[in-house]
Amino acid sequence: GVWGLVLSLFVVGCSANDGLPVASHTMFPSGFKFGAATASYQVEGGWNADGKGMNIWDNITHERPDFIADRTNGDVADDSYRKYKEDVQILKSIGFQMYRFSISWARVLPTGRIDNVNQAGLDYYMNLIDELRANGIEPMVTMYHWDLPQTLQDIGGWLNADIAQIFADYADLLFKTYGDKVKWWVTINEPLSVVTGYSADNFAPALNMAGIGDYVSGHNLLRAHAKAYRLYQQKYSHQRGKVSMAFCGNICQPLTLSPEDVAAADRCYQFSYGWFAHPTFFGDYHPILRQLVDKNSKMEGRNESRLPRFTEEEIADLAGSVDYVGLNYYGPLMAWNGSAGSIPSRDHDAQVRYKFDDSWEVCPSSWMRVVPQGLRLLTNKVKEEYGNPMVIITENGVSDDGTDPLNDLQRISYYERHLAELRRAIYEDGCNVVGHTSWSIMDNFEWRDGYTKKFGMVSVDYGSPSRTRTFKKSAYWFQNYLAMHKLYQ
Ligand code: NOJ
Repeated sequence: GVWGLVLSLFVVGCSANDGLPVASHTMFPSGFKFGAATASYQVEGGWNADGKGMNIWDNITHERPDFIADRTNGDVADDSYRKYKEDVQILKSIGFQMYRFSISWARVLPTGRIDNVNQAGLDYYMNLIDELRANGIEPMVTMYHWDLPQTLQDIGGWLNADIAQIFADYADLLFKTYGDKVKWWVTINEPLSVVTGYSADNFAPALNMAGIGDYVSGHNLLRAHAKAYRLYQQKYSHQRGKVSMAFCGNICQPLTLSPEDVAAADRCYQFSYGWFAHPTFFGDYHPILRQLVDKNSKMEGRNESRLPRFTEEEIADLAGSVDYVGLNYYGPLMAWNGSAGSIPSRDHDAQVRYKFDDSWEVCPSSWMRVVPQGLRLLTNKVKEEYGNPMVIITENGVSDDGTDPLNDLQRISYYERHLAELRRAIYEDGCNVVGHTSWSIMDNFEWRDGYTKKFGMVSVDYGSPSRTRTFKKSAYWFQNYLAMHKLYQ
């Protein structure tokens, strides 16, 4: 019958798995988790509700309306602060088994510090977690998705070395409060994007300290992560959860096969994903960062390298500080050897130039191209670099511009092809990928693009006070895809 035919297609598709311990007739290995993701500032709203403190995105959108393409902000966003139960029903009806969301630091700690806990904020996330679990959806919690309490920015934010301990105190509160129920943790979302807030003016706090602010803030992000990780091990290991970061960056195809361009493509990775991932495995920055930033710093006449150094203790804490690797992937770059960027800057240090290939499929977000094989390239790179660690694709998705709001055929094609590449990475290449959380379950506040770029498989009507949610075609497509996945588990 037709199921037999479908089944045999999967068998053929999986036959090259080389004796890996996977169920060859399933779409994905049994236990593979499909989910969807959001972040607090992008969906919650309730910016000053029930004692929440101000954060740097509240601040920058209020102070500088022009910072955002459509002069909007996240004051109300998708109103998930009030509509979380409906969101959970949406996740459930599509068939997702996991929900990756983030906690707004200033909602639970209005000043960022543990001496001032906002119980209403803690309750909100407890209710969300309970609602998810009651509906068979596993929570994956991001502790920091860019919305730093403003009071902490006022003391320098991630430039201030004290923030590592302040973050660890915050992590302690989250582990203590939710750790019985939450088994998947992401300390920091996209450290590379966070540091862009210090090197450029793409993201809050928009400090424009290229080549300096990025390395210093990045250093403290790593110190903060390591402290939170060791705290979990020492105090909360009985909770048996897993802790990581969600890394982002550039995975590059070399423009030519010359050794120079191949090395440049590697540097592009090492200066982005690798900048943060390498230390969490080996305790310190990849040698190529150390070498190039030190060399340039010297040439610039500085006494000290712009890339800070870890203490022995920090190195010990950082080495082996992820239980799995969270990877955010949208699209790749084409890279070649050459000088780029101003002095000082990360681009200049990396000595790499990059572009999109003209043949690559465009989408409304100008910073990305749709190139599914890049996901396979990335998972293989991570497998090679770090000894095939457990991986979850913590973000993956494509935007639409809302002109034909429910007819998101490019998104269907995007997920269909990316998931196919992910299956190849698993079954043909042996990459240890155990989950995928799509970005995003619903349209939301896309940072500088405001609501002009929509990454959701569910559309949100920003003209209606109730923020009505409507399935796009991709939501129905996912529903069918996941039903098939379950059928063959
Ligand atoms: C990465 C970020 O984590 C998320 O906040 C953002 O909306 C998506 N990429 C899309 O740009």
